[in-house]
Amino acid sequence: MMAQLLSEKNIDPTLDLEGEIRRLKKEMNAVILAHYYQEGELQDIADFVGDSLDLSRKAASADADVIVFCGVKFMAEVAKILSPQKLVLVPDLKAGCSLEDSCPPADFKKFREAHPDHIALTYINCSAEVKALSDIIVTSSNAEAIIRQIPAEQKIIFAPDKFLGSYLIHKTGRDMLLWQGTCIVHEQFSEKALVQLKARHAKAHVIAHPECPPEILRHASFVGSTSMLIKYARENAPDEFIVITEPGILHQMKKNNPENIFYDVPGQDGACAWCNTCPYMKLNTLEKLYLCMVNKAPEVTVAEEVRLQAKRSLERMLEMSVAVNR
Ligand code: 13P
Ligand code: SF4
Repeated sequence: MMAQLLSEKNIDPTLDLEGEIRRLKKEMNAVILAHYYQEGELQDIADFVGDSLDLSRKAASADADVIVFCGVKFMAEVAKILSPQKLVLVPDLKAGCSLEDSCPPADFKKFREAHPDHIALTYINCSAEVKALSDIIVTSSNAEAIIRQIPAEQKIIFAPDKFLGSYLIHKTGRDMLLWQGTCIVHEQFSEKALVQLKARHAKAHVIAHPECPPEILRHASFVGSTSMLIKYARENAPDEFIVITEPGILHQMKKNNPENIFYDVPGQDGACAWCNTCPYMKLNTLEKLYLCMVNKAPEVTVAEEVRLQAKRSLERMLEMSVAVNR
């Protein structure tokens, strides 16, 4: 008989959720990893918070029996690919990513077959199957450093984020064939609202994630991954910052430097007030974190054949980015 899983409506409302999560963590010998776009309370209870590269490194080196991953599914899959002997749990298996959705493995396979002289450099925001079809995985922290290590004559496909790809072409001068995917959060920032904010706060540093389109990035004085943006705000404190990425990042920025002033940028005209918030990242809650630890589900799994192929492209990334530090 199937064991009955505890559900949200059965959680005792008087329960000390944080205390229970800490107790379960010890009992299960678990480590909780969280991305910077998670709700503040999830970041605060995590053992480690980071960007995609930090989290991949942590997942590869963790010595716990269980990894509880507060992020989106592709990130938890990376943990499973690199640490297959560990149980990998997520609060909500529906936490996907628009970039992953933009790149179905069968279409990507055909695209690769149509360009046999190209290697595939693929952003980590993709499925395990697409990683298995790729040569090297990159994140926004290490993509530039990795591209600079690839011989100049080697042709490159870059997938799935066309904006990160065009930013990297601009930075490195390398011609790359781009897959046409986008992040639904970063593609929707309003240039008009940004220009107005800049006019009102002329002294503020404008910092942006490279998943933004070029008409946004051209206004930024610093472009980088979430970890790089947090580091920049720390190193340039005290000051004012217009931050163009998912606003979950402001939690650590404010914790690090309460004296800094941060402005987040709204979406396009007519867009909802929450359009700069990632709907996938925000599926995770403290309640669901607790439930996944009690229920030991949902678990993230990757078919062994896919895992072995995907591991190769991820390990190449880790080898080629040893020099990329915080
Ligand atoms: P970082 O690796 O910069 O944290 O970005 C991950 C991401 O895609 C979240 O959208
Ligand atoms: Fe994907 Fe964009 Fe959400 Fe990041 S912010 S997980 S790229 S949809």
